[in-house]
Amino acid sequence: MIGTATNGRNISITGLGCHVPERVLDNAELERLVDTTDEWIMARTGIRERRIAKPEEALTDLALPASLQALESAGVQARDIDLIVVATVTPDMAFPSCGAIIADELGATDAAAYDLSAGCTGFMYALAQAYGMMAGGLAERALVVGGDVLSKILDWGDRSTLVLFGDGAGAVVLETVDRGGFLGFELGADGSGGVHLWLPGSGSRAFEDPEKFVKMNGREVFKFATRILVQSAETLLARCGLTIDDVDVYIPHQANVRIIEHATKKLGIPSERVVMNVDRYGNTSSGSIPLALADAGAEGRLEEGKLVLMTGMGAGLTWGSALIEWTKEL
Ligand code: ACO
Repeated sequence: MIGTATNGRNISITGLGCHVPERVLDNAELERLVDTTDEWIMARTGIRERRIAKPEEALTDLALPASLQALESAGVQARDIDLIVVATVTPDMAFPSCGAIIADELGATDAAAYDLSAGCTGFMYALAQAYGMMAGGLAERALVVGGDVLSKILDWGDRSTLVLFGDGAGAVVLETVDRGGFLGFELGADGSGGVHLWLPGSGSRAFEDPEKFVKMNGREVFKFATRILVQSAETLLARCGLTIDDVDVYIPHQANVRIIEHATKKLGIPSERVVMNVDRYGNTSSGSIPLALADAGAEGRLEEGKLVLMTGMGAGLTWGSALIEWTKEL
């Protein structure tokens, strides 16, 4: 699916927030848990440390502070939000949705609220959906949240997945603006690759595999990730009549430094335009891109008029890119 913003309504990100658990798990501690080394993890992934939720912390415990920050940075009251979309694969529970829980805790009494599952691409899908609802006149002001607590669904004895992931959440507010804002989206899914990154014991087919742990074919996911990050970004840029030289800030899914460096090189974008925080947070799944956005904002990199390219990819297998002309320094 690909589309450019042609409806005459400019919609942009006007507020940003993020939240990660306090607990830091570094590579030295992982060395004591499984048969791995800091050298292996750094060479293969570039991840130094990640945040891990407490046993009593669930997704909305991270998503709520991120949402409050995003509302504050936009200067918007919760009661003025009429749409909440939460991208996650680790909701507090199957139902009620995290969207409904957050709407209640925020006091967003007029909002439609639900969850969306598209693996690590979830935040990109959620942005596109909120954009589409606003462009279609169904919503005026949206809160889009992306976050995961993957530590709850990892096999803590499996070194091949344990070292990669961390917990975190980010949130943005979407509003109508006078100029700039989203220029286009490209989204896709290839279910034939689903078995390369999956949680087979988690739904109504759990009787076939009662183990509730993430399973991954790292090499296949690596090949997919390096190909799709480049392909999706180039397709969207071409559709928008732009090139990579026009992009001021590139925010790829924070899966792994090697994957990001590969995409950066192939796309031909200078490394100083790339946002990278995977070394500090690991792969936070649906939280990855909003966390990186919030970091870029805190570093003063999101100035009015800058062209920002975001590309996510993950379980499904899914992918998604968005281009936005930034409208407000946050
Ligand atoms: N420590 C030490 N050794 C390890 C570890 C570890 N943590 N994990 C695996 N190994 C071993 C393997 O057992 C294997 O040993 P063997 O040669 O004796 O069999 C060896 O290291 C090489 O294993 P590979 O899987 O071939 O290593 P590779 O170079 O492919 O790196 C990695 C593995 C880092 C997982 C890589 O494949 C990768 O980055 N894949 C993409 C993963 C990813 O990003 N997933 C999420 C994206 S989508 C989403 O965000 C949900």
